[in-house]
Amino acid sequence: MEKTLVILKPNAVQRELIGELISKFERRGMKITAMKLTRISPETAEQHYEEHMGKEFYKGLISFITSGPSVIMILESMDAVEIVRSMVGATNPAEAASGTIRGDYATSPGHNMIHASDSIESAKREIELFFRPEEVYEYRLAVRPWL
Ligand code: RTP
Ligand code: MG
Repeated sequence: MEKTLVILKPNAVQRELIGELISKFERRGMKITAMKLTRISPETAEQHYEEHMGKEFYKGLISFITSGPSVIMILESMDAVEIVRSMVGATNPAEAASGTIRGDYATSPGHNMIHASDSIESAKREIELFFRPEEVYEYRLAVRPWL
């Protein structure tokens, strides 16, 4: 089954939307196989967003993502990467469709609430960056045959 990495960014935690956002993924039929509340270190943030190093928004991005605790989780389902990206919506909330998380909860690209891996390769890299193997749980959901 495919896995993807999701970060509820520091403003999602500050706005007390953790439960509401996790509910959307559970309702969709995604299985949570790992989850933690943590303040991302500058070193980890730089590795996570290394593709953006040097861009004009990079410094602000690192400073925002490290500004307070985030919730980081691994979600699993068929086509998890594509499904979660479609639930998250466009990077710029002004272009994100209503019904998506960014389209419903955000207004600025810098504070767009949530991160989701953009490919299976990124998901693998990001999962290894944020979780040790023993923090990831393989288990069966009884509802699985109904999804
Ligand atoms: P993310 O990595 O956070 O899931 O977002 P994404 O794939 O939709 O967008 P990406 O291009 O990877 O950009 C990473 C984060 O950088 C900030 N950004 N700001 N001001 C801007 O033009 C701009 N462009 C990107 C956003 O916070 C974006 O989530
Ligand atoms: Mg990205």
